[in-house]
Amino acid sequence: VTEGFSPGLENVVAARTTVSALDLERERITVRGYDLIELARTVHFPDVAHLLIRGHLPNLTEQASFCGALGTHSGLPEGVIDILRRLPRETSAMDTLRTGLSLLAGWEDPHVLAEHSPEANEAKAIRLLARGPSLTANGWRAIHAQPTLEPNPGLGFAGSFLWLIQGRAPDPEAVSTFDRVLTCYAEHEMAASTFAARVVASTMADLYGAVVAACAALKGPLHGGANEAAARMFAEIRMRGGAAAAEAYVMEQLWQGHRIMGFGHRVYMRRPDPRAVLMKEELDALAERDPEARAHVDAYEVVAATMEREKGLYPNADLPIGLALMLIGVPVELFTPVFMCARIAGVAAHVIEQQADNRLYRPRVHYVGPEDLPPPDGFAPSAC
Ligand code: ACO
Repeated sequence: VTEGFSPGLENVVAARTTVSALDLERERITVRGYDLIELARTVHFPDVAHLLIRGHLPNLTEQASFCGALGTHSGLPEGVIDILRRLPRETSAMDTLRTGLSLLAGWEDPHVLAEHSPEANEAKAIRLLARGPSLTANGWRAIHAQPTLEPNPGLGFAGSFLWLIQGRAPDPEAVSTFDRVLTCYAEHEMAASTFAARVVASTMADLYGAVVAACAALKGPLHGGANEAAARMFAEIRMRGGAAAAEAYVMEQLWQGHRIMGFGHRVYMRRPDPRAVLMKEELDALAERDPEARAHVDAYEVVAATMEREKGLYPNADLPIGLALMLIGVPVELFTPVFMCARIAGVAAHVIEQQADNRLYRPRVHYVGPEDLPPPDGFAPSAC
């Protein structure tokens, strides 16, 4: 097959969906009919998760039952942490989360695990979403031989997540920023991780396997891993003198042929990412309250202006979110796991949709290798 090849599947439509779409003309991310940025401004992450998983914004009764379920399932089954503790200390937080997500499948009733109805997938999705924060924070604590903490659902989803990460009562402003981060990360159309999940789901494998595939894809520095790289860059720029050193830092990286993480995007390569616009406002608010944040945000502006001038590229969500998470005191190793925990909602919505009306993903290749080769001289079949 030689026709229809698009490297990286650029501009290829891979699904009909009611979950979300990037509207480039209106610079809008539509999630089940709503503007994601408006949602981030006006509602909390669990409402967005309900919208994604159940298909509509919850009424008061549904809100109570959804939040109740997130609280009820926020703890981990006994044994999960014991297994994670046996991982080598060098295991990254993202690999720990991926392993933990995979382990959780073992605690599902095998019949429920294998059931693909929207109702069964919704129930599993809510359990996975609920357990993400504890798996992230306590998995990381376990790896570092630290005592684990119990979730505190009374603080809300974002508040309990920050509590588990930081081990102290979270500052309400940090919770509000963190909640917006979660909503910005909840869903973004056919990202590589979502596509990976839909491919797995299309084999009628279970939701857990699809979420694990998404997690593996999200780790990459070209995808979710960019938020960590962005934060490390701002820490480095601060050490070199802050805003005054930012332009030289970017130029040096570009001259050396490096990419600046947190810039560029397959879909809106030359346009602003609406999530980045929102999160820059959040950074401005953080800078108003804290001179150290001000210094970082000043550097952010120089980096962004230099990239626009030099490459015509705009920040994607990971640039301001990486900095925001750093400023509210989330350890950098946990940035991509936090992204994953939020994205469970969107990925689950895609899996539910895929399996409700499935067709196996099975594309073709444009083969460019040799044909009809004879065995090499002296070749004999191996004995093993
Ligand atoms: N820094 C410097 N140059 C860049 C960057 C960047 N961050 N991104 C793209 N470019 C340049 C490329 O060098 C290339 O230039 P050239 O045409 O002169 O060779 C051009 O822009 C096109 O780049 P491609 O890699 O071909 O475009 P693609 O659509 O494959 O890339 C990607 C998209 C992978 C996201 C890219 O922009 C990138 O690597 N960004 C940095 C990683 C990042 O921030 N990822 C997060 C994505 S958003 C998210 O996951 C929430």
